[in-house]
Amino acid sequence: MSVYSDSSSQLERRPAGTLRADDTGRRVLLRAWVHRRRDLGGLLFLDLRDRSGIAQAVVYPEDAAEVYETLEAVRPEWVVEVEGEVVERESKNPDLATGFVEVRVERAQVLAVSDTPPIQVEGQVDAAEELRLKHRYLELRRPELQENFLLRDKVTLAVRNYLHENGFVDLETPILTRSTPEGARDYLVPSRVHRGQFYALPQSPQIFKQILMVAGFERYYQIARCFRDEDLRAERQPEFTQIDLEMSFVSEQDVQSLTEGLLAAVMPLAGIDVELPLPRMTWRDAMARYGSDKPDLRFGCEIVDLSEILGSSGFRGFQAAVGSGGVIRGFAVPAATAAGPTGASRASRKQVDGWVEVARRYGAAGALTLRHRDGELQFQVKNTLTEHDMRAAADALGLEEDGLALIVAGDPMTTAKALGALRLQLAEDFGLIPEDRHAFLWVTEFPLVEWDEEEGRWFAMNHPFTAPDPRDLDLLDTAPQEVRSRGYDVIMDGVELGGGSIRIHTPDLQQRAFELLGIDAEEARSRFGFLLDALRYGAPPHGGIALGLDRMIMLMAGTPSIRDVILFPKTARATCLMTEAPSPVEAKQLEELGLQVVSRDESPADGSSDEG
Ligand code: AMO
Repeated sequence: MSVYSDSSSQLERRPAGTLRADDTGRRVLLRAWVHRRRDLGGLLFLDLRDRSGIAQAVVYPEDAAEVYETLEAVRPEWVVEVEGEVVERESKNPDLATGFVEVRVERAQVLAVSDTPPIQVEGQVDAAEELRLKHRYLELRRPELQENFLLRDKVTLAVRNYLHENGFVDLETPILTRSTPEGARDYLVPSRVHRGQFYALPQSPQIFKQILMVAGFERYYQIARCFRDEDLRAERQPEFTQIDLEMSFVSEQDVQSLTEGLLAAVMPLAGIDVELPLPRMTWRDAMARYGSDKPDLRFGCEIVDLSEILGSSGFRGFQAAVGSGGVIRGFAVPAATAAGPTGASRASRKQVDGWVEVARRYGAAGALTLRHRDGELQFQVKNTLTEHDMRAAADALGLEEDGLALIVAGDPMTTAKALGALRLQLAEDFGLIPEDRHAFLWVTEFPLVEWDEEEGRWFAMNHPFTAPDPRDLDLLDTAPQEVRSRGYDVIMDGVELGGGSIRIHTPDLQQRAFELLGIDAEEARSRFGFLLDALRYGAPPHGGIALGLDRMIMLMAGTPSIRDVILFPKTARATCLMTEAPSPVEAKQLEELGLQVVSRDESPADGSSDEG
């Protein structure tokens, strides 16, 4: 802290948020923004805000008329310098760390004036998001947003320290590179020198970090910016940051314990305890029990298979589903919810219709209720299930008195996904997720590939460099859908925090994996020749992981949107409202690049649908 002195007394330059009761009597100098100004007719109160917090200043005209005059003119968001004695407040504010004292101003100076801000920094957020993003520098002054970025800073520092202590080296990989496929579209950068050729911005440093293992660095990490041109959601941005790492000579368990240690080092920064080791669940189990490959374990409502119990029951829909190789599954919601002690069983017709809609969105025929209400079991389609069947189903589901269960029947994957979505919907509707609870887990044994109906070919579930489980190698040619991968995801509160795998480290197996994905030798050579080459020169066995830093901070800060933890986020249409990027460029620039812009109407091959 710098000390400022004038001829008569020592002044302490203090961050506003640090003033406390035991500072009473000190003379301080604050430089801060005017957060709020209250003129009580002859008495002026200013809330002064800087990065550290807010302090109150009080101005009495009798102290110095010119000081009063100067500060009477200030408005919110002006920048001022004030000097005065810290005094005990008459009416204290226990909600504010500085709330016991105030600064009685003796000298003041305006350092900068502000136009009337188009969005309010203080109080409720009421401006439209468009306006807030346009003037992001004002929104970023909000203490709650500043806190997110101060947390982000603490987290990256802790990550660096932890990884450094564990023998990792921070290495930067190129941004102007070749396309590294992670399943999204690339952002392309045209080359001026090589007309008609393009760099791609990295979707992740995946191939480079593998090559760094071949290069002998053994433990690499990078807080890496990644770029993906994909449809945006609450937890996605076109430009985001990964804590990316790779290790040589490791098993899944090694990468997982290292990651667990990292989470245990970082999460307490937001007061979140992590109990180690984290639970592990196979992908198959996660889909069956939670209908999701990123199950939210903060609440129960586990999905139960009812095919045996209801497959030959009186409801024809159930018979048909099981008859055609499908399943009947469901889950129960407890009786006591945020909606009251018997809230669940009293769900309205409208609520049920909403849930049916959710199930349909996932391709299921619908969803049916089984209620325990007024002492009896009630299936939604009356007179189809016997008392015995309903009782057996209720027991299997763990349906409580006054509780509610939802049942879906159909092919296994559709049923799983529909129930997974319904489980989350009901958790939200009934307030089933305790606010202060967090749940981490590993999901393992993902399928190596999945079939894409539209394109008629296999796609890598993770990326094409993920190693197949050696136990399933025989199935690579005969039943690829059965092959498990050595991939793993770490999940926090139902969000995919990170994903990684043990990689393929021999050129032959990598070539086989490409073939399975319909990438023939020639294409593999042209796209990934450099990787295949590198694998020929003593590539150590290796594996790694990347954690989404933005998502991590979002969950730690308890904010619902990734935009709250990214300084200058893009909108859902991938624009930056502050800089107005993307923007047209000068004709000369296009000319130099040998590019011509074809308008949307003229473009024959424009299949893009995300522009509405
Ligand atoms: P993956 O594609 O699973 O793996 O990405 C790793 C993590 O990055 C975060 N993430 C995103 N965050 C914000 N916006 C996005 N658009 C976005 N996309 C991904 C997620 C995700 O879990 N190269 C591999 C990692 C590896 O195998 O080591 C990779 O990138 O939190």
